[in-house]
Amino acid sequence: MNAASPETISKRDRDQIFEMFGKHISKGQIRYLSAGHLDILEGERNGIRFHESRSGRAFIDGFSSAGCFNVGRCNRQIIQALETALDDYDMGTYGMLSAPKIELAKKLVAVAPGDLNRVLLCGTGADAIEGALKLARGATGRNEIISMTKAYHGHSGMSLSANGKDYYKELFQPLMPGFRFAPFGDLAAIGQMVSQHTAGIILEPIQGEGGIHVAADNYLNGLREICDQYGIMLIFDEIQTGFGRTGKLWASDHSRVVPDIMVLAKSFGGGLYPNAAILYRDSSVLTNFVDQNPEFHTSLGGGSDLGCIVSSSVIDYIVENKIWENVAKMGERFLGGLRRLRDENSDIIWEVRGRGMMVGVEYKQEFMGILMADCLASNGMFAAYSGNAPQVMRFQLPTAATEQDIDEILTIIRKAIRLMKLYLIALGPLSKIPFIRDMLNKGNILITFNVWLRKFAFWN
Ligand SMILES: Cc1ncc(COP(=O)(O)O)c(C=O)c1O
Repeated sequence: MNAASPETISKRDRDQIFEMFGKHISKGQIRYLSAGHLDILEGERNGIRFHESRSGRAFIDGFSSAGCFNVGRCNRQIIQALETALDDYDMGTYGMLSAPKIELAKKLVAVAPGDLNRVLLCGTGADAIEGALKLARGATGRNEIISMTKAYHGHSGMSLSANGKDYYKELFQPLMPGFRFAPFGDLAAIGQMVSQHTAGIILEPIQGEGGIHVAADNYLNGLREICDQYGIMLIFDEIQTGFGRTGKLWASDHSRVVPDIMVLAKSFGGGLYPNAAILYRDSSVLTNFVDQNPEFHTSLGGGSDLGCIVSSSVIDYIVENKIWENVAKMGERFLGGLRRLRDENSDIIWEVRGRGMMVGVEYKQEFMGILMADCLASNGMFAAYSGNAPQVMRFQLPTAATEQDIDEILTIIRKAIRLMKLYLIALGPLSKIPFIRDMLNKGNILITFNVWLRKFAFWN
């Protein structure tokens, strides 16, 4: 953290920004964020913290924009690479060859798991998921995709169709046909679903939005065997789990199961330049399809020269610093501390799980996730509950956190639990009444309640 105090803005300026955001972007978004005490105007950011622009108050970033900041906030080495690149490069002409594209592809292949040695460059995570699913369908000539319940793969057509929660999808039916869902971790269910129509099986090796569920090694091995047996493409979405987040460079490194297709985004852009990629195995079925259909998935942003230079620099930084080693060590310390907190608070905490710095705390009631976000923010930490499992608080801590940082974070969580228990003096008995519990667990009602509560809260 900078020794100097961060620059702050006046209350009037802050209110005006909120008003303009509501007017031109979304009032609903402000309301939604304010329920979890997350309506923070993000100002100066560095190290493991960012500062609220109005008060200068520091927040530990326990979310890392869902795994976008594995190289830290405003990483100087990567900014430097981008600044230098700006002297000679722009995005580059769409579709044309260029040195930065080749340099990035070489670097990516050098660190990729197993024999994944072919690369397609894309603009965003959802864009890359679309490309991966099209690749599986196009190459196999089959149309069925198996995804997982609670999965999250993005908000565009095919990626939305692969999401395992109706909440995101129900307003936009009909979506893409041919998507089926299996319970995460259930190999027998997959065994019953696969057929000669199955093009691909897609999953996150650790579900992020779904509530931090870690795929067991034997599950991934079993999926690999089924895919080999039926000629199905195994697709790993490592958008959130990749680039050291789980204590290895790739989450798949824990099991050593190599997928046919792997999707990357988020930290690939170093938190500076959105970028994404599909890596795939140089098998005749995949490579022939791509070579025969070179334009099957293109976009203006995918393979931008500036983006490629940033991502090359991200790979250099991550590999030079072996960031996964600190993540593995500090992740263990964090998990150990959380497990002790669970034992002390087994009345509200159901389970603690995760790997490296991708950790979830599951509470006993759905409404507790949003309450916990509020209690953490009150104590100086920003963290979000899982979109597809609101009872699970997700912690994606800064990868460079030290032992001291982890201990500070655990102290904050302990205080937040204490504050939540104060809320629960009132909410606990009410939540035992099924009708009220159902209401509280309905996101909208809880948001209204929390927004109202915030008006009176002493920490505002
Ligand atoms: C696992 C996973 N897949 C896909 C996506 C979609 O990526 P993007 O937001 O870049 O489209 C996300 C983003 O949160 C993600 O976490």
